Amino acid sequence: MKAQAISQFVKLYGREPKWVVSAPGRVNLIGEHTDYNDGFVFPMAIERRTVIAAAPAEPSDGLGESEAKIWSNANDQIGVVSVAPGVAPVEVAPNEELPWTAYIQGTLTLCAEAGFPAQPFVAVIASDVPLGGGLSSSAALEVSVATLCEVISGKTMDPVKKCLLCQKAEHEYAFMPCGIMDQFISNLGQPDHAMLLDCRSCVPEMVPLTDPAVSILVIDSKVKHKLTGSEYPDRRRACKEAAEILGVKALRDATMDMLNAAKDKLTPTQYIRAKHVITEDARTVEAAAACKANDWVKMGKLMYESHLSMRCEFQITCTELDYLIDLAYTKGVDGGVYGARMTGGGFGGCVVVLVKTDAVEDLKAYFFNEYKAKTKIDAPIFVSRPGKGSAIES
Ligand code: GLA
Repeated sequence: MKAQAISQFVKLYGREPKWVVSAPGRVNLIGEHTDYNDGFVFPMAIERRTVIAAAPAEPSDGLGESEAKIWSNANDQIGVVSVAPGVAPVEVAPNEELPWTAYIQGTLTLCAEAGFPAQPFVAVIASDVPLGGGLSSSAALEVSVATLCEVISGKTMDPVKKCLLCQKAEHEYAFMPCGIMDQFISNLGQPDHAMLLDCRSCVPEMVPLTDPAVSILVIDSKVKHKLTGSEYPDRRRACKEAAEILGVKALRDATMDMLNAAKDKLTPTQYIRAKHVITEDARTVEAAAACKANDWVKMGKLMYESHLSMRCEFQITCTELDYLIDLAYTKGVDGGVYGARMTGGGFGGCVVVLVKTDAVEDLKAYFFNEYKAKTKIDAPIFVSRPGKGSAIES
């Protein structure tokens, strides 16, 4: 992607870029919809990245005095944004498509307001993180733009503040009330490590994931998720209401005993949403321990349980995702699969499968063929080691 961004930059602007930065997408191994409940998540950065190549604007670029021009390989379009502070978000009606530049504009504005202004620039974005595939293409974009602001302004942001700034850009400019997981892992991921993040203290613990005998397989169901719809905010609201009824600050502080004792005070929906979060938090901590112990059978079992909970209690899966998990389960450990679950916000996107490395090629063919036979969809499938977080490439 880096070479692609640079060569596209030279082609479009007729000069070399001055700055090249990047940030990865992520796959969440376990811990879904727990981040905004102050709980635990266990993601890893993937080896797919969003790269930005940029250079100061020149008069021949035809830009206004606080403008930046960006070409994106995702849609072959050029967008113009402002590098000045105080730029308001673009209003969008419910179900209207956001302009792709909203994430960039939000991050640039908030960076300028936080003392990390970008000068007018021209840029190229090249990314191989699938858009809307549940692998955090939006966080990769926000974090790479914030990294660009750091390099342009010649200052380094406090890493936690940088993640929170990117999350704020997503809340205020993309109207998506996300938690903190995606921005954290995209910014602070490390090669060969997954991240156990306590979303209350915001302190990450890097957990080695280096056993060559296991691999992480990501399968894109190609069912597009759209998290700016009502489902994500609805889930968030139900969790908040349940926490209030239970008298705790966040569901992180609740136990199954507390939930069962208060069952009569909760609606059936609030009860099952809270049950998912409480049990998922426990599974996440257990899975990180299993990973440390290279106990892949245990970790795989927790992944299946997580999927079941998302399917039946949090109700964020879909038929295609459930089918992929059924395929994984049918193969079983003897067939090379330890476990599998949907990953990300839900309603489509990807599944993550923990597999034996020596079975990878067979399993890729198996999932591809079986899924296609059932759905007629060609599912992109790839293996990723844990990749690095945001980076200044040159
Ligand atoms: C999206 C959000 C994250 C998190 C996941 C669900 O990816 O951006 O903050 O809530 O959904 O785990």
